[in-house]
Amino acid sequence: MHPFPLSVAAASLCLPTVFARFLGPLNPAPVDLTSDVSIVQSQWKNITSTLEGHLNGTARNEALSGLDKITFSLGLFSVHDLKAAGSLQYHHTGPDVRNATFGVNTVDGNSIYRVASMTKVMTVYSGLLLLKPSDWHKPLTEIFPEISSLPENDPVHHIQWDTITPFSLASQISGIPADARPFDAGELATVFYFTNPVDPTTLGLPPLTLNSTGINVPCQDVNCSAVQFLKGIQSPTFDSFQTPGYANTNFIVLGTVISKLTGLPLNEQWFQKAVFGPLNMTNTSSLSPTKKPYSGYVVAGSADDFAFQGGITSSSGGIFSTTNDIAKLGISMLNATLLPADQTRRWMKPNSFTASTDFALGMGWEIYRYTDKVTGHITDMYTKLGDAGAYASYIVVVPDYDFGFSVMVTSGIVTAAERSAAAHLLADLISETILPALRDQAAAETKCNYEGTYTGIGQNTSTLTLTYNQTAGAGFGLTLTSLVNNGHNLLSLMQTSLGSDQLVLAPSTMDPKTKQRGFVITPVTPPAEYTGLFSKMFATNSDWLNNNLITYGGQALGTFYFDVADNGRAVAASPAVLRGKKFKRST
Ligand SMILES: *[C@@H]1O[C@H](CO)[C@@H](O)[C@H](O)[C@H]1NC(C)=O
Ligand SMILES: *[C@@H]1O[C@H](CO)[C@@H](O)[C@H](O)[C@H]1NC(C)=O
Ligand SMILES: *[C@@H]1O[C@H](CO)[C@@H](O)[C@H](O)[C@H]1NC(C)=O
Ligand SMILES: *[C@@H]1O[C@H](CO)[C@@H](O)[C@H](O)[C@H]1NC(C)=O
Ligand SMILES: *[C@@H]1O[C@H](CO)[C@@H](O)[C@H](O)[C@H]1NC(C)=O
Ligand SMILES: *[C@@H]1O[C@H](CO)[C@@H](O)[C@H](O)[C@H]1NC(C)=O
Ligand SMILES: *[C@@H]1O[C@H](CO)[C@@H](O)[C@H](O)[C@H]1NC(C)=O
Ligand SMILES: *[C@@H]1O[C@H](CO)[C@@H](O)[C@H](O)[C@H]1NC(C)=O
Ligand SMILES: *[C@@H]1O[C@H](CO)[C@@H](O)[C@H](O)[C@H]1NC(C)=O
Ligand SMILES: *[C@@H]1O[C@H](CO)[C@@H](O)[C@H](O)[C@H]1NC(C)=O
Repeated sequence: MHPFPLSVAAASLCLPTVFARFLGPLNPAPVDLTSDVSIVQSQWKNITSTLEGHLNGTARNEALSGLDKITFSLGLFSVHDLKAAGSLQYHHTGPDVRNATFGVNTVDGNSIYRVASMTKVMTVYSGLLLLKPSDWHKPLTEIFPEISSLPENDPVHHIQWDTITPFSLASQISGIPADARPFDAGELATVFYFTNPVDPTTLGLPPLTLNSTGINVPCQDVNCSAVQFLKGIQSPTFDSFQTPGYANTNFIVLGTVISKLTGLPLNEQWFQKAVFGPLNMTNTSSLSPTKKPYSGYVVAGSADDFAFQGGITSSSGGIFSTTNDIAKLGISMLNATLLPADQTRRWMKPNSFTASTDFALGMGWEIYRYTDKVTGHITDMYTKLGDAGAYASYIVVVPDYDFGFSVMVTSGIVTAAERSAAAHLLADLISETILPALRDQAAAETKCNYEGTYTGIGQNTSTLTLTYNQTAGAGFGLTLTSLVNNGHNLLSLMQTSLGSDQLVLAPSTMDPKTKQRGFVITPVTPPAEYTGLFSKMFATNSDWLNNNLITYGGQALGTFYFDVADNGRAVAASPAVLRGKKFKRST
C-alpha cells in the first residue's frame, strides 16, 4: 500500500515483472538531478512543496501530520550531479528547536544533529580503511588474549569469543546480546535498585550483588577497558553466524578492536584519521560539544544530556554530523574515493538474510530491497538507521543510481515512537518518490545518449542500431534493433544463438578514466509459468545462469563496448565478438 498521494502516475499501471535481469541497474546512473528538465528535480519539488504546504498550514495532508512537532533535515546527493548535495535539501524547524535556549533556532545543511546509530556504518568504514583484510576474520580471543580464559566449550551458557570475529560483529551476526553495561537501557536492575527502587525479591527475582557505583560487572562506565567490557557481556543470544540480531555491543566491541589494532586508543582518533579528516567533514565528530550554548548544534530534549561523552560507546552511536557532511560521506562511498572500487562493491553486498524477504544485512548496512512498481526490477538500498534519545537519522546509498540521501530528525516534544515514525515516514517519502524519478531520468538520459544508428568506420555496409524500448515487457532498456556486418545480418544470428528476438542491453563494466563502458545483452523472454520456487528460478531468473554463455573465439556474443564522450553521449559502439571493430555514432 502506498501511503502518499505523491507517487508518479505510472505506479498504478499493472505490468508484468521484467524477468531474467541481472541484479543491478537497468541503465547507467543518471547525471542530471537538478536542472529544470530533470525528472528528479521535478519530483523533489513535488515532495518539498507538499511538505511545505502541509507544514505552513495551506495544504494540510493527513499522511504528514506526524511531522508537525518534528525538526528535520533532508538531503539528496549524487556522484554525477555535484549540485544535488547543496540544492536538493529541505529543512524544517519544529516548535521546540525554534524556541531552544541552546544551539540553533533554524536548521540548515550545516546544522549538527546527533545521528545515533548511523555511527555504526562510519565505524565499519573506518575499520575497512584502517584494518588489514585478514583482521576481519581473526577470533576475538586472538585480538584480546586476556579473554581467552573465559569459559570455552560451553556454547549454551557462555559466549564463545573464539568463534566471534570483527566481521561477525560488523555484520550483526555474532550472536551476542544487544546491550550490556555501560548501556543501561535494557537493564532491569538499574530500574529496580536505583531509578525506581523496589525489592527485586518481591518481584520473584533473585537479589544481585551491588556496590555504590551500580551493578557489579567489570565495566562500570563508558571509559572502561575493552577487556572489562567483554567480560561484562553475559549470556549468548545465539551461536556466532547463526542468525542476525541487532546489537550495540557489536559496534562497541568493534570500536575497541579498531583501537587495539591501530594503536589509536580513542575512537575519535581513528574516525578522524580514516574518514572525517580525509573527507574534510569538519562539522562531524564522535565527541559531544562540551560548552554551552552548543553553537551550530540542534539541541532537543534535555540540554544537559547533550554533553554526555560516549567513550567506548561512541563507536556504536556517538557521532554528531550535518546534512552537508553526510553527503560528502555518501559520495565518497559511491565514488570509491577512500576505499578502492572492488572493496566498495564487496562492502555493498549482503552477508545475511533476515526473516524478511526484502531486508538483509551487510557490514554495518541494513539493506532494503525495493521492488520497482513499473518494471518489477529490484533496487537495493544500503542504509543505516540511527535512533536514540530525541534523535533519529538515516543514511541511504543506492549504488545502482550512484545516489543517496540522508534524513535527520529530532524533537523533544513527541514520544520516542512518534519521533522514530517521522524518520521512517520521511525515508519512505523520499525513496517511494525519488527512486521512480531516478529510474525515469536514467531511462531518458540513456535514450538520448545511446539510441541511434552507428556505422562501421569507412563502410556503409556495417550498421548497428539501438532503440530505447519503453513498452511494458520490453526490458526497459536499449534494444539492439539491427546489426549488419559487411552486409550480413548478424542480429538474426545473435537472436537465434541467445534465444530471444528481443535483445536488451544492460550496463556492466565501466572505466572511470576513459569513460568506456561495457554492456551485456539480456535476451528478453516472456515470463513462464511455474509451480514452486525451483521452477520459478528457471522461469524467471535466467540471466544470472546464462551469464554470457555463448562465445565466438572466446569473445562473449552478448558483450558490447561503447566509447563515451565527456558529456555522456556514446560516440562509438563495438560488439566484442567483432574483435575491435568500431561502429561510429551517426545519428
Ligand atoms: C505531486 O504529484 C502528484 C502526482 O502527480 C500530484 O497529484 C500532486 O498534485 C503533486 N503535488 C504537488 C504539491 O506538486
Ligand atoms: C506554503 O507552502 C506552499 C507550498 O510551497 C507555498 O506555495 C505557499 O506560498 C506557502 N504559504 C505560506 C503562507 O507560507
Ligand atoms: C569521483 O571520482 C573521480 C575519479 O575516479 C573524480 O574525478 C570525481 O571528481 C569524483 N567525484 C566526486 C563527486 O567526488
Ligand atoms: C515558544 O515560546 C513561545 C514564547 O515564549 C511560547 O508561547 C511557546 O509556547 C513556546 N513553544 C514551545 C513549543 O515551547
Ligand atoms: C564496584 O564493583 C566493580 C566491579 O567489581 C569494581 O570495579 C568497583 O571498584 C566497585 N566499586 C566500589 C565503589 O566498590
Ligand atoms: C570518560 O572520559 C571522558 C574524557 O576523559 C570524561 O570527560 C568523562 O567524564 C568520562 N566519563 C565517565 C563516566 O567517567
Ligand atoms: C574544508 O572545509 C572548509 C569549510 O568549508 C574549507 O574552508 C576548506 O577549504 C576545506 N578544506 C579542504 C582541504 O577541502
Ligand atoms: C561547518 O559549518 C559551518 C557553519 O556552522 C560552515 O561555515 C562550514 O563551511 C562547515 N564546514 C564544512 C566542511 O562544511
Ligand atoms: C556505399 O558507398 C559506396 C561508395 O561511396 C556507394 O557507391 C554505394 O552506393 C553506397 N551504398 C549504399 C547502400 O549507400
Ligand atoms: C518493444 O517491446 C515490445 C514489447 O516487448 C515489442 O512488442 C516491440 O516489438 C518492441 N519494439 C522494438 C522496436 O523492439
